[in-house]
Amino acid sequence: MDKLTLNSYAKLNLYLSVLGMRRDGYHNILTIFERISLADKIVLKNRADNKINLICEKKGLPLDHCENLAYKSAKLLQQSFKLNKGVDIEIIKNIPIGSGMAGGSSNAAYTLIGLNKLWNLKLKQTQLTSLAAKIGSDVPFFIYDSSFAIGKGRGERIKPLKSLKRLKLWHIIAVPDLKVSTPRIYKKWEHFKDMNMLTTPNYDVKILISSLKKRDFSALNKAIFNGLEPVTMTLYPLVRRIKNKFLSLGARSALMSGSGPAVFGILSSKKEAVSLAAQFKKEKSCWRFFFCYTL
Ligand code: C5P
Repeated sequence: MDKLTLNSYAKLNLYLSVLGMRRDGYHNILTIFERISLADKIVLKNRADNKINLICEKKGLPLDHCENLAYKSAKLLQQSFKLNKGVDIEIIKNIPIGSGMAGGSSNAAYTLIGLNKLWNLKLKQTQLTSLAAKIGSDVPFFIYDSSFAIGKGRGERIKPLKSLKRLKLWHIIAVPDLKVSTPRIYKKWEHFKDMNMLTTPNYDVKILISSLKKRDFSALNKAIFNGLEPVTMTLYPLVRRIKNKFLSLGARSALMSGSGPAVFGILSSKKEAVSLAAQFKKEKSCWRFFFCYTL
C-alpha cells in the first residue's frame, strides 16, 4: 500500500466542566466528546526519501513543522520507532481552524491511525493512544472508534460510551470568523474563577449521559454545559449573540464547543435540523453554518 485516504472527523463537547489547574499548567476537566460528520480529508502517500512533507491549500493552517499536529504525529512515529520512512501528508480542510472542534487534533489522530497502516507498524490502540496524548489533550478521543466518550484528566483519559453506539444527534453549528486561542481561554478561566465570574453545571454529567441513553432531548438540552463559555463570551461577545440567535430561532438550547467560538444546537431529527437551518439561511450573518450529525 503506497497511498491512503482518511476522513478526519471533528468533535463537539456536549459537556465541559473545568475542575481546576494542575501542577503542569494544564487543567483537569470532565468532558463528553461527540464525534461528528464534519470532516477534513487526509491523503497519506509514501515517499522514496525519509522527509515528511505537508500539503494544504487552505490559508491559516500551520504548515510550519513545529506547529502542525499532523506533522508532529508523523515525526513522533519516525522518532519513537527509528523509522527510515517518509510521507506526503495532504490535508483538505473543511473543519474551521481554531473553532473549538479540534480539527488539528483530529488531523494528528488520523495521521497516526493512517501511518500505522501505511507503514505497517501494527501498533495497538493503547500504543496509539499514548502517542496521541503526547501530541495534545484532544487527540486520544479520535483514536477510539467511538461516537461518544467521557474525557478526564486534561481530556486525554478516554472512556468510550459504548451504550450510545446507535444514537444519532443532528446539529447546526455556527462558526464566526474568529480564531480563539485555547491557552488564552484557560488562562483567563483562572482570572474568572478568582473574580467569581464562572458558572457551575445545573446537572451532573450522569444526568446528561442518562438523557442521551433515553433519547430524552428535553433533559439533554438542560444538562449540556460548557464552563469555558463565560470566558470566551466575555472576550468575544459575538459568540454570546450567536447563542442567543439559536434560541430566538427556536432551538431548544445551544452550546459553545471546547474553547469556542463554534456554537451548536442539538436536534432530534433531520427534519428538525433542516427547518432550523432554513431559519438561519434567512438571516444575514457574518458566520458560517454547518449541518452535521453524530458519526
Ligand atoms: O493539549 P493541548 O496542546 O491541546 O492544549 C493547548 C493548551 O490549552 C495547553 O498548553 C494549555 O494551556 C491549555 N489546556 C489546559 N487544560 C486542558 C487542555 C488544554 O490548560 N485540559
